[in-house]
Amino acid sequence: MDTQLITHPTLDLIHAHASCRHYDTNAPVPDTAIETIVSAAQRASTSSNIQAWSVIAIRNAETRAELARLSGEQKHIAEAPVFLVWCADLARLDAVAALRGYPQNTEYLESFFTAAVDATLASQNAALAAEALGLGICYIGGLRNNPREVIQLLQLPKLVFPIFGMTVGYPSKPPRTRPRLPRSAMLNWETYAPTTEADLRAYDREMAQTGIYQGRQVPVPGKPEQMEDYGWLEHTARRGEKPARAQLSEILREQGFELK
Ligand SMILES: Cc1cc2nc3c(=O)[nH]c(=O)nc-3n(C[C@H](O)[C@H](O)[C@H](O)COP(=O)(O)O)c2cc1C
Repeated sequence: MDTQLITHPTLDLIHAHASCRHYDTNAPVPDTAIETIVSAAQRASTSSNIQAWSVIAIRNAETRAELARLSGEQKHIAEAPVFLVWCADLARLDAVAALRGYPQNTEYLESFFTAAVDATLASQNAALAAEALGLGICYIGGLRNNPREVIQLLQLPKLVFPIFGMTVGYPSKPPRTRPRLPRSAMLNWETYAPTTEADLRAYDREMAQTGIYQGRQVPVPGKPEQMEDYGWLEHTARRGEKPARAQLSEILREQGFELK
């Protein structure tokens, strides 16, 4: 039997999350909303309180159109009135180090990792804050398709790197919530346990029922004459096969993160 979960209005907000890709272009997002969202982002936990992140809020339509293009023609970036670019930021710590007469060591992967985690935690607080205000959001990892161009466009100095973007605006239609894997796949007690095939197949069926992958059919593995529905398993396995943004470590090094 499934465990009866505890309820709370904050949990209702978290569970209502769905990425929004359709925005009301006639509903402006006031500066106070952006300031409120970023204030919530600042309350997230941060490694040793170093607060190694920055966010760039972009309203300019031309810049958003360019970022939409650079992120793989994602039209929701151009449509949403605000685009937030979440950055790992060790440039500020360079200034701190200089003020106290120390060099900042950014040689190791740990430096970038810390800043990227800080930026990510802050962004998720912002996402929930935005949703609490009735706004829709969508993370945009596509921003890392062309990081050099993004860095140039936004004038990011050394030791600042765009981790992902986030569209923000009022939804023009309510986005649909996507089911998640069964909790038993994620929650292990005391030691690690691999996810069972039964859990994976059950989720594949649940995702297929949402109609998200409708119309896509693929051959049954090992039986090319038979067709089966394309679902989460196929989608995710295909995605995992592709080399992902192979130039990233090179560009990070150009930005001053040595990643040793
Ligand atoms: C780091 C990150 C990058 C993402 N990048 C994109 C993106 O480039 N474009 C997009 O439309 N959605 C993007 N998404 C949204 C995911 O596709 C979405 O969160 C996932 O499919 C689950 O759906 P849900 O958020 O509606 O529950 C991204 C999400 C994350 C966390």
